[in-house]
Parts: sequence; C-alpha cells; structure tokens
Amino acid sequence: MLTVYIMGKGYRVPEGLTIMKAMEYAGYRLVRGCGCRGGYCGACATVYRLPGDYRLYADLACQTTVQDGMYIAQLPSTPAERADYQLSQVAPRGEALLALYPELARCVACNTCTRSCPQKLEVMDAVQAALRGDIRQVAELTFDCVQCGLCAMRCPAEIAHYHVWQLARRLCGAYLTPRAQHLARRVAEVESGAFDAELDRLMGMGKDELAKAYQARDIEP
Ligand code: FES
Repeated sequence: MLTVYIMGKGYRVPEGLTIMKAMEYAGYRLVRGCGCRGGYCGACATVYRLPGDYRLYADLACQTTVQDGMYIAQLPSTPAERADYQLSQVAPRGEALLALYPELARCVACNTCTRSCPQKLEVMDAVQAALRGDIRQVAELTFDCVQCGLCAMRCPAEIAHYHVWQLARRLCGAYLTPRAQHLARRVAEVESGAFDAELDRLMGMGKDELAKAYQARDIEP
C-alpha cells in the first residue's frame, strides 16, 4: 500500500494502480474526467506533484501509475476559447489558423506545451507550423492529439492549442486530402442498388446461418 493525496486528502491505495483506479479505490465515483480508460479520449487530464520535487507534472489519469506521496488534482475540462466558424466557409489557406486563433502569434517558444503533452507530441513544432501556415504539417504533427487540454492549461501565451489542431485536421480532411476514388465508386454502386439483393438475403437469414456465412466470407487480401 502507498499514500496518495487526492484533491488534498490522503488515502492508502494499493501499489500499481493507475491514478484513475486509485481514485475509484479511494471512493471517488468518476462521472467527469473519465471516458475511454484507454488513453484515447483525453477526458482524464491530471496534474500532480511528487514529494520533494518542485515540478508540476501533467498526465492522463488512466495511463499513469500512482507513486507514494503523490499529490493529485484532476482537470476534467479546460475552459479554453474555441473559435466560432463554419468549416464550409473557411478557406484552407495558410493564414486561416492565425486568423481564427491570433493568440498563436504570442508563442514565446518556451516549449512548455511539448513538455506537458501526455501523448509526447511535438506541440511547439506544431505551433511554429501553424504560424508558417503549414496546415498539412500541423495536422500530421497533431494526429494523435486527444484534446486533454493540458497544453493549453500550461501555456503562458494562453494558446488553445488543441482547438487549433482540430481546425487544421478538419481543413486537411475536408480540402487538402485527395478524395478516395474507390470509395466514390463504391458509394455509387450502393446507391444504384447493386447490393440490395445480397442485403435482403442476409436480412432473411437466422442467427446460425448468418454466423456460418460470416465465417465463410471472402476476406480481402
Ligand atoms: S479516460 Fe480516456 S484518455 Fe483517460
């Protein structure tokens, strides 16, 4: 067993638990600050300090193991400003990111955002790419962002990084990524009714017959 301090109160919890499981062991019922439990949704942003260490660490509660003497506080959401835009009315030009998020220009290149990212993204590089108007690179650098908000919490320039990254990925997906021609062809086939008879046949099957058909299906190489 070890001791952790959750929102200022001490608890004895078993060694080896994640912060999230330790909180539940201590009696917290998580209705905020908990989602996928697998490191994907970004709902469990947490800050903590360790005894005798001045640093404030930031991480995901579902991915971080408790340590003896840890002081823990959760940040279930970040009240960061999100620009109001209609994607269909935003042209995918380099200046789009800076126009909607002018605070990007306040970046002092301190790299705190990169150090606070639990996904180990090169967040400050993405800020620089955004300032250069390189939407594709921003989207690529931030592909694994889980929108936990920890970068925005720590940023001295008060940039809402994760909202900017989301806009970049949306612009990339909507305008800059080549259309998948095979998908367009398949959608046209579906709309023309090419699979209606097959679908009717499947809908008429019982559970066992359906399971057998599933096992025997053609699998694409
Ligand atoms: S609960 Fe989803 S990332 Fe931790």
